[in-house]
Amino acid sequence: MSCANDDLKALIRTIPDFPKPGIQFRDVTTLLLDATGFAAAIDRLAESLPVKPDLVAGIEARGFVVGAALAQRLGTGLLLVRKHGKLPGETIAEEYALEYGTDRLAIHVDACAPGADILIADDLIATGGTALATVRLLRRTGARVTGAAFLVDLPDLGGADRLRAEELRVHSLMA
Ligand code: PRP
Ligand code: ADE
Repeated sequence: MSCANDDLKALIRTIPDFPKPGIQFRDVTTLLLDATGFAAAIDRLAESLPVKPDLVAGIEARGFVVGAALAQRLGTGLLLVRKHGKLPGETIAEEYALEYGTDRLAIHVDACAPGADILIADDLIATGGTALATVRLLRRTGARVTGAAFLVDLPDLGGADRLRAEELRVHSLMA
């Protein structure tokens, strides 16, 4: 699919002061609306992976979109990492801090087999709080979390470096 990374970047819009003053919100909804851009973004993320994981773990909510598309492209299943209180079965949860508040994520305790190789997927990494809570959750099940894929990395907020310190490979399309 011919679409340069700069073209993909141009499809992401910045909304100042959302959801609170001082936050430059990187809005991927405009990229998702563009059929060529969305497909190129998923193709490129998939092609950057050195190995096919056993499962892709998509983080609610925007990570579901990236995770589902990536899982289909790679031919893997999709593990839903949900905001706490939404999953019907027995769950485990982890609390985390965001650039703009705190939240809690949960997975089903039996969502993945011990030793499974998991790739985390989300639209964006900022502080890494969300992705690191996901790593902690998945590792509690005995899974191996070896990589994480994002459309956007905000490097000044340090999240990608925090994931690398946890021995994850970090894949992102743009900073
Ligand atoms: C956003 C984004 C990531 C997270 C990144 O999700 O989709 O999941 O923030 O921030 P971090 O690296 O500092 O943790 P948000 O919690 O806003 O939820 P949403 O996807 O439901 O909009
Ligand atoms: N999640 C955390 N920080 C964000 C930002 N600046 N833009 C979009 N999503 C975010």
